[in-house]
Amino acid sequence: MSAPNKSYDPVEVSALQPEALERARDEALAAIAAAGDLDELKQVRLAHAGDRSPLALANREIGALPPQARAEAGKRIGASRGAVAQALKRRQAELEEERDQRVLVEETVDVTLPWDRAPRGARHPLTTLQDRMADVFVSMGFEVAEGPEVEAGWFNFDALNFKPDHPARSMQDTFFVESEDTDVVLRTHTSPVQVRAMLSRELPVYVVAPGRTFRTDELDATHTPVFHQLEGLAVDEGLTMADLRGAIDAFVNGMFGEGLKTRMRPSYFPFTEPSAEVDMLCFVCHGRSVEVGAPACRTCSSEGWIELGGCGMVNPRVLAACGIDPERYSGWAFGLGVERTLMFRHGVEDMHDMVEGDVRFTLPFGTEI
Ligand code: PHE
Repeated sequence: MSAPNKSYDPVEVSALQPEALERARDEALAAIAAAGDLDELKQVRLAHAGDRSPLALANREIGALPPQARAEAGKRIGASRGAVAQALKRRQAELEEERDQRVLVEETVDVTLPWDRAPRGARHPLTTLQDRMADVFVSMGFEVAEGPEVEAGWFNFDALNFKPDHPARSMQDTFFVESEDTDVVLRTHTSPVQVRAMLSRELPVYVVAPGRTFRTDELDATHTPVFHQLEGLAVDEGLTMADLRGAIDAFVNGMFGEGLKTRMRPSYFPFTEPSAEVDMLCFVCHGRSVEVGAPACRTCSSEGWIELGGCGMVNPRVLAACGIDPERYSGWAFGLGVERTLMFRHGVEDMHDMVEGDVRFTLPFGTEI
């Protein structure tokens, strides 16, 4: 910048010459008009209206003029800068408008175009079947009870009358959480929910407990380490095995059709006494496939009967462990396999189909949610 002119000498400052200012202004206006987009305009603004632009630098030279020349020079430079600022503003508005129009076109979404719809999810057939099985008992007045899948060994075994060295403990191929010493297991059956229900509910107790259970089986056509059971438990005064049989008959009629007989075969469980395996007459051949010359039945493998699960009268020791007086109350319990039921009720031949999550398997069961 030139030094202040205090001596009233007419000093020539070339940057403030009208022609110089006009040139600077015209160059600025030309550059503004040529700016093709907002980014370019930003550069132009910096070059022609910024602190180091020719017009700004010229403005600073006003002080170098003699006082009587300053006002006139100030007016000229002000007019030039004003014209540039005006042009910038106009071009900015134009370019913004252009950009908005372009964005509207470029980012248009045709909402009428077809697209790959994500199919609506559905519950797994095992889940819907499990609910349906429980519902049959709910319709008889049972309540649904739940328990944890990671269970204390005491609930899974001890309270159910499995002695510490009982072979059934190893027979049930248990998944231990951390180690065998921590006494925390993945429940091997839904029977611990019986204990929880007896300990936490008022008598009488009528509950069903559907849920996931775990055993160290390898996955193959008929086994899976993660499976599901439906437990039933009734504890009341005067209950007998006839009540158990009646409830199971009602379940079979509700799930598979009227008039299907059941039968019980002696069995053993530490927590029921007496214990039984319960079978139902095959709902496809009604037992006829066992007759000589009759066509084979795939559902019951021509056995005539289908195995449903285990059951029995609650062992008085179990009642006592749950603080229930076995002299006054009696109970019965059963456990049904949900995978097994899906297999024979729907002709599923391979367990893999139930765990692999292939929708080609699940879709025919419908998309109930
Ligand atoms: N918990 C037994 C099992 O998993 C089934 C069962 C339940 C048997 C209730 C009797 C009574 O094999």
